[in-house]
Amino acid sequence: MQKEAFLRIHGGFRLEGEVFAGGGKNAALAILSAAILTEELCVIENLPMIDDIFAMRDILQVLGAKVEFSKNVMRIEARTLRAHAVPDALAHKLRASYYFLGALLGRTQEGIVPFPGGCAIGSRLMDQHIKGFEALGAHVYEDSEGISVKASSLRGSVVYLDIPSVGATINTMLAAVLAAGSTEIVNAGKEPHIVDLANFLNAMGASVRGAGTDTIRIKGVPKLHGCSYAVIPDQIETGTLMIAAAATGGDVLIRGALPTHMEALTAKLLEIGVRVDDTGTGEDSIRIRSEGRPRRVNFKTQPYPGFPTDLQQPMTALLSVADGVSVIQETIFESRFRHLEELRRMGGKFTVKDRIAVIEGVEHLTGCPVTATDLRAGAALVIAGLMAQGVTEVHDIHYIDRGYEFIERKLNALGAKIERLERIGPLEIAAGD
Ligand code: EPZ
Repeated sequence: MQKEAFLRIHGGFRLEGEVFAGGGKNAALAILSAAILTEELCVIENLPMIDDIFAMRDILQVLGAKVEFSKNVMRIEARTLRAHAVPDALAHKLRASYYFLGALLGRTQEGIVPFPGGCAIGSRLMDQHIKGFEALGAHVYEDSEGISVKASSLRGSVVYLDIPSVGATINTMLAAVLAAGSTEIVNAGKEPHIVDLANFLNAMGASVRGAGTDTIRIKGVPKLHGCSYAVIPDQIETGTLMIAAAATGGDVLIRGALPTHMEALTAKLLEIGVRVDDTGTGEDSIRIRSEGRPRRVNFKTQPYPGFPTDLQQPMTALLSVADGVSVIQETIFESRFRHLEELRRMGGKFTVKDRIAVIEGVEHLTGCPVTATDLRAGAALVIAGLMAQGVTEVHDIHYIDRGYEFIERKLNALGAKIERLERIGPLEIAAGD
């Protein structure tokens, strides 16, 4: 009998209190793949206990690394690698499996990765990754199975990215740190997780300069050593919690969050009428206070430091009850509005044309069964459920568990009423922790 987990959300409860931001998923995914660039032990802390991280652990073990992972800390020792191919089943679990192309190329000069999985939010091409690998001297073969890369030796080069792709920037960095000579990545992504990867690589003895700007300069080194490193807080989980607090008229202090990573979202929340304070105590935390109906606002997603595409979907939930009409332009992915179909079932009013969504704010949403179509769509539906009148059931929550560490635990600790249940045929039982 098919067992299906889902969340039952009782709407209308304000979020109040303190919550800790977890470790950054997208930073961790890049850093975990980088750990195979050395034979020595890497100890990586502040990892979120989420499905994508477990999948990366499994890939590392298949490649031959010794891996121990418990209580948010992973110890990785890739003394000898016994494989340079990532298995299909694991590669398809997540997008970031393709970081092993750059890491295996950097370590062993060859790698094979099936086409990666990841959220169905657009074509998610890899031409810029391939451009980076070929510029460093690798031969890249694509077939129906996936991508393989091979190089007799890697030599530094100038890589001009046609778009500031996060993944292509990261993959080129992974391949370049052990290449002979210098590499310059021009029009590079500037996301916080790219900076975090650069800091990790430098902690291993690499020479990476300029991360966080649009030009990253790498001087190849002959060898990297192990290190201990703590991953930055998750920018997108922090943003999701900020939006959830605003959506419930709450008062929430998010500890461990970095205000500097949240500036684009903070600016929009202030426009909406939400109070955002970085508490000014110098520690890393952000306080969100909100009351009354959100004001309408327009925004378009942009590469960092612009408004993050990963927070577009959660924001549409908040704006679905705003006082007025909001216009959102999704410039990064070509189909990242599928969740609006589900929000429409809850009473939201949206019209979508190409990459533009127009949201006509309604008085309130009404709870009903909805289905997550991808990770951040799931987060948007949870926020909608927190705000809605009545009960919302969110299905296909495996998407949510890929990127949020037991999302209901953190929200319930702030006063939400969310149950994680499993349906087995006609039976419904509380899902185990
Ligand atoms: C990373 O995806 C993140 N994933 C995404 O987060 C995030 O939405 C995205 O960056 C943008 O910030 C991880 O870090 C694992 P891109 P990535 O390469 O690397 C096109 C989440 O919810 N493009 O910057 O795939 C591509 O099609 C996930 O945590 C090319 O055309 O993003 C897309 O339209 C979802 N050619 C755009 O660029 C390429 O070679 C941005 O892609 C590469 C990308």
